[in-house]
Amino acid sequence: MAKFYVTTPIYYVNANPHIGHAYTQVIADTLARYHRMKGDDVFFLTGTDEHGEKIEEACLKAGFAKGGEKDFVDSIVANFKKAWEKLEISHDGFIRTTDPEHEITVKRLLSRMKEKGDIYLGEYDGWFCTPCETFWTDTQAEGEICPDCKRKVDRIKEKNYFFRMSAYQDWLIEHINSHPEFIMPALRRNEVLGFLKEKLTDLCISRPKDRMSWGIELPFDGQYVLYVWFDALINYLSALEKGHGRAGYWPADIHLIAKDILRHHAVYWPIMLRSMGLSMPETVFAHGWWKMGEEKMSKSRGNIVNPLDLADKYGVDPVRYFLLKAVNLGMDGSFSEEALVLMYNSDLANDLGNLLNRTLTMVEKYFGGIAPFLPDDLKDPAQSARSAELLSAISEARKGSDALMLGKELKIKEAIEVIMSVVCRANKYIEVSAPWKYAKEEGGMEAIKLIMADLLEVLMTACLGLSCVMPSTSKKMWAQLGLEGDLSAHLKKMSLGQMTPQERMYPAGTRVAKGEPLFPRIQ
Ligand code: MSP
Repeated sequence: MAKFYVTTPIYYVNANPHIGHAYTQVIADTLARYHRMKGDDVFFLTGTDEHGEKIEEACLKAGFAKGGEKDFVDSIVANFKKAWEKLEISHDGFIRTTDPEHEITVKRLLSRMKEKGDIYLGEYDGWFCTPCETFWTDTQAEGEICPDCKRKVDRIKEKNYFFRMSAYQDWLIEHINSHPEFIMPALRRNEVLGFLKEKLTDLCISRPKDRMSWGIELPFDGQYVLYVWFDALINYLSALEKGHGRAGYWPADIHLIAKDILRHHAVYWPIMLRSMGLSMPETVFAHGWWKMGEEKMSKSRGNIVNPLDLADKYGVDPVRYFLLKAVNLGMDGSFSEEALVLMYNSDLANDLGNLLNRTLTMVEKYFGGIAPFLPDDLKDPAQSARSAELLSAISEARKGSDALMLGKELKIKEAIEVIMSVVCRANKYIEVSAPWKYAKEEGGMEAIKLIMADLLEVLMTACLGLSCVMPSTSKKMWAQLGLEGDLSAHLKKMSLGQMTPQERMYPAGTRVAKGEPLFPRIQ
């Protein structure tokens, strides 16, 4: 059994989750579900990043006293957990950087890097952006402005511990060049290689406690706490450590992130791992940003959309579907509720919901609700040809969407499109085949049997193909189609290339159970 270890960033708990966070969660969840269905041994990790200046500031702002940080973070973490539950995020692990076990791992690994000679005491004199928790050189922070978030940076001059990143620059460039799937998509790989053209400076990884104490104390110097990013990145290992018993999942198959934290994951993290003597993750995949107009959606800009409000209004599955289908993974997307409603009405209400409804209505009308067996000998070459064409389109879609779902490029949007194109085609197949006309002809019921079998085949394929994107809808469809048993056994069969092109999955003789429309139209 192949293992599949997928991670999301651990989110800062200075505010509640928004659509941007939900996006990463939904992508990771869809991948995790798909790999589970295929029988892989999946570990899907998410969590929260709870130390550092940003959190300390937010805590004070929220009216908690100094020392009350843990109570503050507990209250926000609960909201993250609730949000992921509501959005049907099926993570296997939830790590918090305030977990005592995480702290133990961080200290142990820091000591290891120190013993290796990669951590030393020096003086930091440079710029720091508190909202981004990031250091900048004079050239980077030109005009005293953070090059990422464009806010004002602070000048810091103090004795601190440093991580010897510079020693690993050549090795990292070589690793990236010899592992083309290490940083995806290619655009981001080039960005990192561009950044590595400049000489790497050593990273300041400590904060004097008298300035900032909300963090993990350095195991070799009690006067300092650890820079929050160093603490945070180690979550991907500490979640597998003792007590969790998951050491065998390392290295990660995919670290899913957005482009804002690429440097931390594609430069700091591999160098940390190398220093610790551990193997590299297979892929760091950076997706784009959800924007409002031209601006990145973020709490600090005050332009956020709450995913839970959207889910209340339109349903969880339509929100998941929209997030995955509206933008190419890797690109930015501009969020608009109108676009969501348009996609809901066209794809989900008109195409998918309508196909299910029409098909089940006809199975009831012509066959008393029992899915017909194929006709023995249909003497209607035109209809037979149409049917054969639809069947090969189904077969192509099964293979195509599977390859897209499993590819390193994470073409989830395209996989959905492949499945939905067969759904559209099936709606047209009804129009062209016109079963209501056959119903008036002598012997026409034979053709209707074939048409119904074809439509049920499309619906079963769509139900399986979309099951990781829209888990609840898929369960409802499964029930309306009268199907029993586990979806995953069927998905495995469909996707492992075990089906011949003209082979059918939907069992004739099944009693369908037409229910409420899946997606009532939004006016
Ligand atoms: N705590 C760090 C991550 C540490 S990982 C070891 C952090 N946290 S964050 O709360 O700012 O979350 C950043 C992540 O949230 C992004 O990488 C992305 O996954 C998601 N997003 C936050 N805003 C987003 C958008 N507007 N659009 C898309 N994704 C966004 O950075």
